[in-house]
Amino acid sequence: MKKTALLFMGSLLALTVMGGQAQAGDAEAGKKSVEAKCLACHDFGAVFSKAGKVGPPLQGAVVGRAAGKDAAYKYSKPFLDKAATGLTWDEATLDTYLKKPGDFIKGTKMMAFPGIADDAERANVIAFLKTLK
Ligand code: HEC
Repeated sequence: MKKTALLFMGSLLALTVMGGQAQAGDAEAGKKSVEAKCLACHDFGAVFSKAGKVGPPLQGAVVGRAAGKDAAYKYSKPFLDKAATGLTWDEATLDTYLKKPGDFIKGTKMMAFPGIADDAERANVIAFLKTLK
């Protein structure tokens, strides 16, 4: 009981330190969504022991990174065409993409993923992505 409370406080502290600033979304809730919805296709490095291989690896700082930059991954042509317009994954572009990937990039290989319709859940997922270093 006491140990659980300490662990909880510890993870809250870790989140605060990692986030650095106030976040709109809840990174802990976002982590659960990512585990349920993204892990089948994406590798998040040490954060999860499981690693999906269908999509490009997402460990490291995704937020703020230029799209389509994983040298070892074979992106689809529609994705690369969109990336070539200077697409960078900031919170706004991630929010639009994750809402409905196939609408943001017609023909993307991530079209098999229907997207996250819930605004709050997307904000949580993005808050979690921001904690990746
Ligand atoms: C069905 C498999 C699948 C699922 C589920 C999935 N993705 Fe993807 N994702 C892909 C594929 C495939 C690509 C590459 C798209 C292309 O080349 O057209 C991709 C690309 C991406 C990119 C661009 C990465 C880069 O290098 O520019 C991001 C960001 C991303 N996905 C985030 C997510 C998040 C967050 C989730 C969960 C909410 C998720 N994906 C769920 C398959 C998936």
